[in-house]
Amino acid sequence: RTKRQAISAEPTVLDLSQLSDVTLTSYCKNKESGELIQRALMDNDFMKHLEHGQILTIMDCMYPTSLAKGCCVIQEGDDGSTVYVLEEGTVEVTKQDKKLCTIGPGKVFGELAILYNCTRTATVTALTDIKLWAIDRQGFQTIMMRTGLIKHSQYIDFLRSVPRFQSLPEDILSKLADTLEETCYNDGDYIIRQGATGDTFFIISKGQVKVSQQLSASDEQITVETLSKGDWFGELALEGEDVRTASVTAMGDVTCLVIDRESFKQLIGGLDDGSSKQYDSDEVKEKWKAEADFFSSVS
Ligand code: CMP
Repeated sequence: RTKRQAISAEPTVLDLSQLSDVTLTSYCKNKESGELIQRALMDNDFMKHLEHGQILTIMDCMYPTSLAKGCCVIQEGDDGSTVYVLEEGTVEVTKQDKKLCTIGPGKVFGELAILYNCTRTATVTALTDIKLWAIDRQGFQTIMMRTGLIKHSQYIDFLRSVPRFQSLPEDILSKLADTLEETCYNDGDYIIRQGATGDTFFIISKGQVKVSQQLSASDEQITVETLSKGDWFGELALEGEDVRTASVTAMGDVTCLVIDRESFKQLIGGLDDGSSKQYDSDEVKEKWKAEADFFSSVS
């Protein structure tokens, strides 16, 4: 394992213009094979951080292939073009004729040359007749990249729904989308605490949150409202030091897109200030007012 982690080649640079032309083909597979592939991808050190959607699409696009005992599946030093998941049989991994390990069903191999754009780091030989699932470089990289692009455009849409951001030019919105951090919370987690200072702004991209306030130390927390997907909170923190006027807690699983003041300022600078905002619709105006009310409601 240590050798695998020592790879220092640069990750592959992709040409976006080529990706739009790539058609992804899905291949039928039974439930067991689908699950084996998913587990294999999630178990691989280099792929386990992929999003679930990416894992499912890679699984969907893998095609079946088989090789006889003794065949060389991958030759060290070659240019790599395929990532494999072993379904049946055993393969041996060698490097400069030294045995590194044997691999059994439910494992990924051949991922390094594709992920790191390097030549094959080892030779892989079939010790038995083997059944494999395979995906080629182009399909694999398209899936990696397209998901990123779709996400990026979803982030831009979310940002556009916030009045403060609506009039920002496309390139600034795009950069803002790059700086967003997606953060997940579990049921009951505090996202912000009343009284704490904050420098982060949140847009809910999944789930619901409860906004509650405590008017004095001896009072109970009162639920003020619930917010859901597309709603935002903490906007004033982007303008200057914000003492949080309410607590916000997750109701079930919640995902927020989080922007911090520093990144925001660097990107937006003096481009626009909220006070000179022209409202584009009543709905937007209402949202903007609700946000302002929310943060000024406690004296
Ligand atoms: P790749 O370099 O594309 O082709 C050879 C594959 O062998 C490599 O990806 C890994 O999947 C696998 N491999 C390389 N080194 C090791 C190792 N030390 N242990 C297990 N598998 C390895």
